[in-house]
Amino acid sequence: MSQKPSYVEECIKDYKYIFQPELLRGKVAFITGGGTGICFTIAEVFMRHQCDTVICSRKMDKLRESAETLSKATGRRCVPVQMDVRTPESIMKAADTALSEFGRIDYLINGAAGNFLSPITGLSFNAFKTVMEIDAHGTFNVSKVIYEKYMKDHGGVIVNITATLQTRGQVLQAHAGSAKAAIEAMTKHMAVEWGMDGVRVMCVAPGPIEDTEGMRRLSRGRINDEYVKGIPIQRMGTREEMGNTVLYVVSDAAQLVTGTVLIADGGHWLSNPNNYYQTKKLMQKKSQL
Ligand code: COA
Ligand code: NAP
Repeated sequence: MSQKPSYVEECIKDYKYIFQPELLRGKVAFITGGGTGICFTIAEVFMRHQCDTVICSRKMDKLRESAETLSKATGRRCVPVQMDVRTPESIMKAADTALSEFGRIDYLINGAAGNFLSPITGLSFNAFKTVMEIDAHGTFNVSKVIYEKYMKDHGGVIVNITATLQTRGQVLQAHAGSAKAAIEAMTKHMAVEWGMDGVRVMCVAPGPIEDTEGMRRLSRGRINDEYVKGIPIQRMGTREEMGNTVLYVVSDAAQLVTGTVLIADGGHWLSNPNNYYQTKKLMQKKSQL
């Protein structure tokens, strides 16, 4: 019997509506990184609220497969578009495709990112640059294109998916933390300059979220009961919860909310261990550093 490969994205089995099911009727979202993980589920939750979506990243096969899964589960349209957030030309083409398919882009979710665990001494110049370019430059590039092509004249909401790595200088995360910090600063600049055009710009910062590539890469098998009990709410977050959080941010319930960061991590960043000496010892023991 053939088994589904584990990387096939799955929709929520039993989605429970918190907001009105028609909340985003007639709207369109452009979601980078929407073919996988947290952003796949953000697309799903939006579509369950009657939004159509465009999901973009580098791997077209994955995007096609995910778009089909999302449309089947929600009955809404999802258009997959190949795009590298580091290449302005590919972003302009993707934005043109979105506008010719739907005629509008109400929400931009900047979720594309790259990350891995590494001490600063283990980062080549190119490794640091690569993560900065995907996360920080990528967020700038896509926001500028979507604002100039559509939101400048019609308003909208931009949600940048960041993290809490930078709040306390998380060990082994100098590259991603620096990039996310840049995005959080950029968010304020964009909120200030684009507010008069009816554009809100926000960050949503997840903590550890179950069943994601981010956690697979960053946990390296270190998620045990002790780790989970160290989180104030005593559990990790779910992709569904991230979808609902971003749904709130784009909704009219958040009309006064712009230029700031909504941390959605169950209090993890406040209590998460951040000791380089101990981390180094642990990883040397496991021959991981
Ligand atoms: N530790 C240290 N350096 C690493 C690394 C690791 N685990 N993984 C990659 N690098 C370095 C590479 O060696 C390379 O540097 P070099 O040219 O000096 O050797 C540099 O990073 C770029 O790697 P490359 O594979 O060429 O980049 P890419 O653009 O193809 O991919 C990554 C970007 C590396 C971030 C890749 O892991 C990726 O595509 N990630 C997307 C998914 C993801 O990260 N999800 C989690 C989101 S939180
Ligand atoms: P993920 O599934 O690996 O998502 C990353 C996405 O980015 C992938 O779909 C990838 O698709 C896309 N991408 C990477 N480089 C790209 C590029 N150059 N151009 C366009 N797209 C690119 O990881 P995730 O764990 O769900 O993370 C999603 C977001 O949440 C990220 O911003 C991450 O930093 C943030 N976050 C996650 C956690 C967590 O617990 N998982 C915690 C805090 C923050 P392709 O490979 O097809 O390009």
